[in-house]
Amino acid sequence: MKRMPSMRRPLTAGLSLVLLLAATGTAGAEDEISVPMPGPWGEDYAETLDDPARVDATEAFQRFRQQSMQGTSATYRSIEQILRYDAPFAERLPELADELARGADDIDTWFARETPAPDGEPGALPAAWEDPAFAEYKAAYREATAELQRKVEAADDLEDEGFQLRATEALNGVRHQCLACHDNFRRR
Ligand code: HEC
Repeated sequence: MKRMPSMRRPLTAGLSLVLLLAATGTAGAEDEISVPMPGPWGEDYAETLDDPARVDATEAFQRFRQQSMQGTSATYRSIEQILRYDAPFAERLPELADELARGADDIDTWFARETPAPDGEPGALPAAWEDPAFAEYKAAYREATAELQRKVEAADDLEDEGFQLRATEALNGVRHQCLACHDNFRRR
């Protein structure tokens, strides 16, 4: 039976209308639904989403992994703004380095389910589940983020230029791991 999650909740007239508009709208719109986003700023806000009935658990798992990678990227890039471009947030380095290391500790869970990208499409290569070396890449990445974390924890002064140079070296070591793993296990 086809899952129809939006029907489980009582439909307001507004929701029926936006669903109708989505269904009659642009090409491919039948794969999307529009969900009202209520709040204090009025009734006009709705989000267009992939229809949950068409996204199975495997695809959701893969999307979760991709979002977690995006989160890792945002954390990495935030640290980079501080160390390489002098964004005035050096006091945030400890929490950002912790966050990056926590993500690295979690990376196993993002790959726990075998969801390689279909042939030619972007995503994880089958090698991520077939090649035993993948475990070494994950472990080396964890170690690189832990090294950055240690450098940041050991700092007396997070603004100090000497410390920031050492931390940048450690950040480059993290970046090496992102690039090497992508080179071998990801298709863009
Ligand atoms: C151990 C391997 C590994 C490491 C280390 C790694 N990645 Fe990834 N990354 C992958 C794989 C595999 C994919 C493809 C996942 C998929 O699409 O299912 C990916 C995907 C991504 C994506 C795309 C997500 C999307 O929306 O499709 C970004 C961005 C990313 N990684 C950033 C990073 C950054 C930044 C680092 C380092 C700080 C990093 N990754 C470290 C393996 C790794």
